[in-house]
Amino acid sequence: MVIRDYKPADFQQVEKLWKETGIYTMERGDTHEVILRCNSQGGKFLVLEDPESRIMVGSSWMTYDGRRLHLHHFAIKPSHQGRGLGRILALESLKFADEKGCPLKLEVHRENLAAVNLYNSLGFIKFKDYEIFMVVDPGRHLDPGFSNGLETGK
Ligand SMILES: CC(C)(COP(=O)(O)OP(=O)(O)OC[C@H]1O[C@@H](n2cnc3c(N)ncnc32)[C@H](O)[C@@H]1OP(=O)(O)O)[C@@H](O)C(=O)NCCC(=O)NCCS
Repeated sequence: MVIRDYKPADFQQVEKLWKETGIYTMERGDTHEVILRCNSQGGKFLVLEDPESRIMVGSSWMTYDGRRLHLHHFAIKPSHQGRGLGRILALESLKFADEKGCPLKLEVHRENLAAVNLYNSLGFIKFKDYEIFMVVDPGRHLDPGFSNGLETGK
């Protein structure tokens, strides 16, 4: 197996891998263009590939916000899971974070035991007192009819 940087020609296989591992939804808008933009802003997208068959076996997408790295779409092809490849790819991702000199953050569903165990075993610390929030459609909440109960002072 080879770990290398993402190339534009990889997207089709990457998308297939995400679908196979259940981490792909179209609404997320994770396109080739988004990968290139995130990489140009200091992120890194690693792929794990079988050099003989050229089959994409794993993906690790790290985006950079100028302060921290965030790990997304970490996956190993189902037919190749349970052989230590996830650990190898995660260690390579940690190496990148170490070289960049910043923390690596991620979100994982609490019932995803394979991933939770992997991250625990690698030294990731779980935030016990925090909830994850996201506004998916910010413009909708700027509607004058929308109220969160706060006075804006306007
Ligand atoms: C999570 C995932 C990447 C692990 O990849 P993998 O190659 O199967 O993992 P490894 O074989 O390297 O195992 C590493 C560690 O993960 C944990 N683990 C892996 N599979 C596990 C399972 N079925 N049950 C419990 N723990 C498991 C163990 O701690 C294991 O270490 P150990 O072998 O010393 O016990 C893989 O299951 C996957 O792609 N899942 C679907 C996509 C996904 O959910 N990604 C995470 C999004 S946040």
